[in-house]
Amino acid sequence: MKQAIQIKENMYWVGVHDFNCRQFHGELFPISEGTTYNAYLIVDEQITLIDTVEEEFMDIMMERIHSVIGERAIDNVIVQHAEPDHSSGFLKFMEAYPNARAFASNAGANAMLKQYFKEVAYEKVKTNDTLCTGKYTLTFIEMAMIHWPDNMLTYVKENGIIFSNDAFGQHIVSYNIFDDGHSLETCIDRAKDYYANIVMPYGMQVANKLRQIAEMNLTFDMIAPSHGIIWRTYIPQLLESYEAFATFKQTNKAVIVYESVWKHTQMMAEALAEGLGQGGIHVKVYKNSATSSALIMKEILDAKAILVGSGNYNNTIAPGIASFLEKLSSCKVKGKKSLAFGSYGWGNVVTKALKERLEKAGLPSFHEDIISQCYTPTEEDLDALIQLGKDLAEEIKTM
Ligand code: FEO
Repeated sequence: MKQAIQIKENMYWVGVHDFNCRQFHGELFPISEGTTYNAYLIVDEQITLIDTVEEEFMDIMMERIHSVIGERAIDNVIVQHAEPDHSSGFLKFMEAYPNARAFASNAGANAMLKQYFKEVAYEKVKTNDTLCTGKYTLTFIEMAMIHWPDNMLTYVKENGIIFSNDAFGQHIVSYNIFDDGHSLETCIDRAKDYYANIVMPYGMQVANKLRQIAEMNLTFDMIAPSHGIIWRTYIPQLLESYEAFATFKQTNKAVIVYESVWKHTQMMAEALAEGLGQGGIHVKVYKNSATSSALIMKEILDAKAILVGSGNYNNTIAPGIASFLEKLSSCKVKGKKSLAFGSYGWGNVVTKALKERLEKAGLPSFHEDIISQCYTPTEEDLDALIQLGKDLAEEIKTM
């Protein structure tokens, strides 16, 4: 029988492991070793479930619940987020516990109805509303647009725990469910990965919410998100990292993303990287089609410069680069600059289009010049690009 895992007195993890998930939220976020959908059970005079899981995993969640409370009924269910990874099991849950009171934000109740077409008597809650379950009082805090309009978190003062839903999540899949079962470096790196791919467009909301939560003077020593491990030891480093992510705190770093068929654009990318490297900039170089988009987004988060290269594909940008630009545009990055480059054989039009797309995405160009190359770069051409990389390095250091 599958078991719940106790995380605090009277509080249990009753989530599931999805070992086979490789595309999190469709193609948005390729992941390497699956994820978890975390649900939590609070056993008090009234029993409360925080979130459900994807419908196909509901039997596992139920088994874990039964391992704690047997046939006792659940009194309350908190729908912290209506996205299906946490809500598609909800109606199945209500069939098993028809008398449970369901709590959701106003936006959450609306999204549930529009997805599952069933009216449920949700009790709509907003920031600072509370639910007393006996000795525990649950306080709700809306987290609008982190990363859907309906997200909220639940704070239990008596046990010093925040159930944060998607915020502070990461894809660490383990039965060792606390952060200190893993290295600090791994935990923060996975949180960065998750932030860059799921939360990055909402940095302003995250920064404001972190400020608001700090002003509320909550006392807590555990953060239990809806994906991955539970934070209890690395909380100061996590909060510091989130502050840096939300404000696009940047280092002297450049990320080069390109696509190339006959290696001409690749030669340009590597010459620019050489110059940036010689100039003391930490530089990452990725051929888009050979690299996980999740890795590229993570590396972009704290870079000052994004250099994008494309060959000429029937007079337009390489499809993978066009798709990357769409994603970049949606992320509302701030404080970074860009450079477009690329090779062509006839019709020098792509680099100009690339430059315009980058500027439209909020990334002003380092240069007005079009950095393009007709067919194969000569040694002199490559030396000029190395010099350009060195010049960019100096500009980057002043940003
Ligand atoms: Fe984990 Fe926004 O869903």
